Amino acid sequence: MKHFLDINATETGELKNIISEAHRIKAARAGRPKGALDDEKPLDGHMVALIFEKPSTRTRVSFDVGVRQMGGETMVLSGSEMQLGHGETVADTAKVLSRYVDMIMIRTFEEATLLEMAEYADVPVINGLTNRSHPCQIMADILTYEEHRGSIEGKKVVWAGDGNNVCASFLHAAGQFGFDLTFTGPEPLDPEMAFVEEARAKGVNVEIVRDPVKAVEGADLLVADTWVSMHDAPSARERRHNLLRPYQINDELMAHAKPDALFMHCLPAHREEEVTNSVMDGPQSVIFDEAENRLHAQKAVMRWCLGK
Ligand code: CP
Ligand code: NVA
Repeated sequence: MKHFLDINATETGELKNIISEAHRIKAARAGRPKGALDDEKPLDGHMVALIFEKPSTRTRVSFDVGVRQMGGETMVLSGSEMQLGHGETVADTAKVLSRYVDMIMIRTFEEATLLEMAEYADVPVINGLTNRSHPCQIMADILTYEEHRGSIEGKKVVWAGDGNNVCASFLHAAGQFGFDLTFTGPEPLDPEMAFVEEARAKGVNVEIVRDPVKAVEGADLLVADTWVSMHDAPSARERRHNLLRPYQINDELMAHAKPDALFMHCLPAHREEEVTNSVMDGPQSVIFDEAENRLHAQKAVMRWCLGK
C-alpha cells in the first residue's frame, strides 16, 4: 500500500504510470451511464472514508463516484461531526479508521494533519487538498493537457495570481513532468521559494515575472485560481483583491499567449474576478474537462495506492 500525499513525494515514473492508467480507465468506460460499474472492479468489497474539514463539490463527488464505479463503497465524513474536530488526536483517528476502512481520503487545513494521518494509518491516505497543496487536481490537469495537446514536457505553463496550494502542486508537477512554469503575481503572494528551488533543481525553468503581459509570452497553458482560498481569512479579501486585480485572465491577456494556448482553472471560479466569463466560456478553456478528469485521474491514484 502507498500513500498519495504530494506530486513531489511520488516518483516521476509512478506519476506517469498513474496518468497512463487514467487515460486507459477513462477510455474503457466511454459512453456509459455515470452510475454504471466498470468492467474491472478493483475496489470490490473495499470501504473508503472521505473526510472533509473544508467544503467541496468536485473532490467529494468525483471520489465518491469513482470508488463506486470500481465496485467499492464510501463513507463521507465531515471533520466537524467527527471526534477529530472535538479533540481526538489525528493519530488515534488514523488507527481507529484503519480498523474499519481500506483507504482514507482527507481534505484538511494543516499539512501536518495529513502527514500524521498517513504516519499512523495502516491503509493508504490520499491528499484531497491542504492549505499547502492539491495534488489530485494537478494529476487531473496533466491528464487534461495531454488529451488536448499531447505531452506537457517542455511546454510553458503560466500561473497567474496567488501562489497558493494549487500553484504549489503545479510547481511540484513542473519538476516531475518536466515543464517550465512562470509565476506572475504580486510579490507578497509569491509561491513558497522552496518549491520554486526544488523544481529548478530538477532542471526546469521556473520564473517569477511581475508583468503579466510579459509573463504569458509564448505560453502553452494559462492557469488561474481563486484570489481568496478556503484557508484565507475573510478579512484579507479586500487586500488580496487589490493586489491581484492586475493579474486577471481576460481576452486581452490570453491574446499575448500562444494562439493555441489552453486555459485551466481548478474551480470553483469567481467569474469576472480572477478570470472573465469570456475566457471561462471561450474556445481555449478546458475547465469542465479538468473537472471530469478528477474522476478518472483519482481512480488511477486509488488503484495505485492499493496496488490494484
Ligand atoms: N477543484 C476542487 O478541488 O474543487 P472542490 O473544492 O469543489 O472539491
Ligand atoms: N485554492 C483553493 C482551491 C480550491 C479547490 C482553495 O484552497 O480554496
